[in-house]
Amino acid sequence: MRVSRQIALPQWAITILAAILAGTISLAGWTAGAVSAAAQNPAPGADPHTQPWMNKQLSPESRAELVLKQMTLDEKIALLHGNGMAHVPQWQMPLTSLSNGGAGYVEGVERLRIPPLNLSDAAYGVRDSGANGRYSTALPSTLAAAASWDTQGACQYGALIGRELRAQGFNMTLGGGVNLTREPRNGRTFEYAGEDPLLGGTMVGHLMKCEQAQHVIGDIKHFAINDQETGRNIVSAVISKRAMQESDLLAFHIGIQIANPGAVMCSYNRINGDYACENAYILHDALKQDWGFKGFVLSDWGGTHSTEKASAAGMDQEQPMADFFGPKLKQAVAAGKVTMADIDDHARRVLYAEFLSGVVDYPIEKGVVDVQAGLDIAQQIEEKSIVLLKNDNAILPLDAAKVKSIAVIGEHADLGMISGGGSAQVDPPGGNAVAPPGMGATHWQDHIWFPTSPLKALKAKFPNARIEFNSGHDRKAAADFARNFDVAIVFASQWLSEGVDLPSLSLPDKQDALIELVADANPHTIVVLETGTAVTMPWLGKVQGVVEAWYAGSSGHKALANVLTGEVNPSGKLPMTFPKSEADLPHPVIPQPTAEDVGQGDGSNTPTHEASKYAVHYDEGLKVGYKWYESEHKEPLFAFGFGLSYTNYAYSDLKVDSGKRSVSFAVKNTGKRTGTEVAQVYATLPDSAGEPFKRLVGWQRLELAPGESKTVTVALNPQVISIFNEQTNTWSLLPGTYKVAAGPSSSDTPLHATLQLP
Ligand code: BGC
Repeated sequence: MRVSRQIALPQWAITILAAILAGTISLAGWTAGAVSAAAQNPAPGADPHTQPWMNKQLSPESRAELVLKQMTLDEKIALLHGNGMAHVPQWQMPLTSLSNGGAGYVEGVERLRIPPLNLSDAAYGVRDSGANGRYSTALPSTLAAAASWDTQGACQYGALIGRELRAQGFNMTLGGGVNLTREPRNGRTFEYAGEDPLLGGTMVGHLMKCEQAQHVIGDIKHFAINDQETGRNIVSAVISKRAMQESDLLAFHIGIQIANPGAVMCSYNRINGDYACENAYILHDALKQDWGFKGFVLSDWGGTHSTEKASAAGMDQEQPMADFFGPKLKQAVAAGKVTMADIDDHARRVLYAEFLSGVVDYPIEKGVVDVQAGLDIAQQIEEKSIVLLKNDNAILPLDAAKVKSIAVIGEHADLGMISGGGSAQVDPPGGNAVAPPGMGATHWQDHIWFPTSPLKALKAKFPNARIEFNSGHDRKAAADFARNFDVAIVFASQWLSEGVDLPSLSLPDKQDALIELVADANPHTIVVLETGTAVTMPWLGKVQGVVEAWYAGSSGHKALANVLTGEVNPSGKLPMTFPKSEADLPHPVIPQPTAEDVGQGDGSNTPTHEASKYAVHYDEGLKVGYKWYESEHKEPLFAFGFGLSYTNYAYSDLKVDSGKRSVSFAVKNTGKRTGTEVAQVYATLPDSAGEPFKRLVGWQRLELAPGESKTVTVALNPQVISIFNEQTNTWSLLPGTYKVAAGPSSSDTPLHATLQLP
């Protein structure tokens, strides 16, 4: 049940539904458009000579144009709205039952061989598999995968989801979240790829490119500045054009350039007053005109607020209902308020996405998900995503020859590991691992654990050690218990979900107190974090080891055990800053909407919402994450890009080539184990930019054997070192001196040089 959404069926839908139930009209009759069109235009054969748009040799643009010419107005409008959402009582429409059980269903045009679209959420795996009696792999969260900085892994991530979507009967994904971590308490931080536009855009771009290559329409969301969940249906994000272009929009632009997705989802919030789904600046000017995006823009669920304004601004498809882009759109055409050229543009974009992604040429054939392949890929990605944050006295890796006893404490570590909630939720096989049997499918805002028991995984690695579990519920008893073991590992978790922001970055449920007590009792305490964003660590000085495992996915326990034992040398690096406290954030407190702003209920289209004055002023502008800390001279707890290894690396020999705008340097493994280093390059623009802080401009993942050295070369892409001019709406690459720095993290850059651009 999705209690957060209370949208009543519109009157016209109730009338149609009542007529269907009373037998006055038939279900098929409701799709009068398609029926009358078929009568006017008898279906030609499947032959590309009679249906020239079926010719695969033609470009997606030409094919879309050819088929568009055959379509009636009703058929075009049918492409421009959803038909309800399965499993959500308040979002039912006459055709909802035809859907495949996903978040959305768009009618096709059978006579023209345009298939219906079956949309599913799929942030870290295919959603609702439990409710639909299917199985999905849960990958580590998108944020976790971003910590790998591994574009090949991102590609595997997307391809796996694409395969599982198709196997389950879907031909469009609603994944691809790339909102920047501007507000780390944002409940959806785990669905996104961190705080940097280059890292986030690149990772999500590769993910979605490979997902769409499986013949599902790709999507990138939530466009844009949807950086908190508090008041998400009413909030206006107030931000300058330059700031948004150089931060949040840049992440989208990079992602879209790499993935060329068929779709972009506009977000719930407003930007500088206008709702994102009717915001001409972001949809028409930036996305479509400046970036040349040829696919379609669909609204977030219930995020459409108008017919004419949204259509003119560049929104193409309403989801999941037809409140504004169904009959009202047709009326607007009849009244001359929306032109046929606009309808054609919207419909052409949907058709283009279908030809581009191959959903027309490769009709869905349901199949069996390859469970083992999914588990293997999820494990490999998690092994590259785990970040080792602290390792005093080399407490890790645990040596099976020396460690005779391990206390495993807290957070259901005997049963499983936690996952991220909301529309991203992937259902664990057999239901929630910590719920009593028979609880059935997952429910909106449940805290869901996967059956990935770290306790069992550790026992498998240390068959001769004494390994015991304590729930940690009685903190004092847990500390006494910890005393009797060589090592204590405390598992700590933080649950995040769509629809709600965190009250703070502290671990919930007094877990800080548990860690303190255990660390006081056992000097060899390690903390394993299962979090969807940063957490504060008041106990950091007392523990010897800290491992960030994120939301670890279907094989998280195995990946974690491999890292703890050293079979895998950790290589993940933080894709976001971990602050010392909320006081250091640009907004120490998230401003809350008033009761008047919120109005009645939590629907998205109520008049009170339209009148809301709730706004968040992003005065920090483009200084998101590490840029903020550097310019404010605040030291973070753990910096963007930080992560330890079981070996050490030395950086040397930085050379710059101003002509080629490139830098190169050497990285050497000076330790005793093979490892993979993520070597990072940052640049600070000339003073005239007025941006006295560095930007990430490139990185390379390097595998190095002990003693081995490799040369890294990174070319600076002008796109990430340019500035946006609001007056001329153009980007410029400033002449002057660029400071470049290279090293293992944003706060540790041993190599420095300057580069001159003419
Ligand atoms: C979320 C989207 C999601 C949609 C469909 C909305 O609440 O914001 O990310 O794709 O629901 O479930």
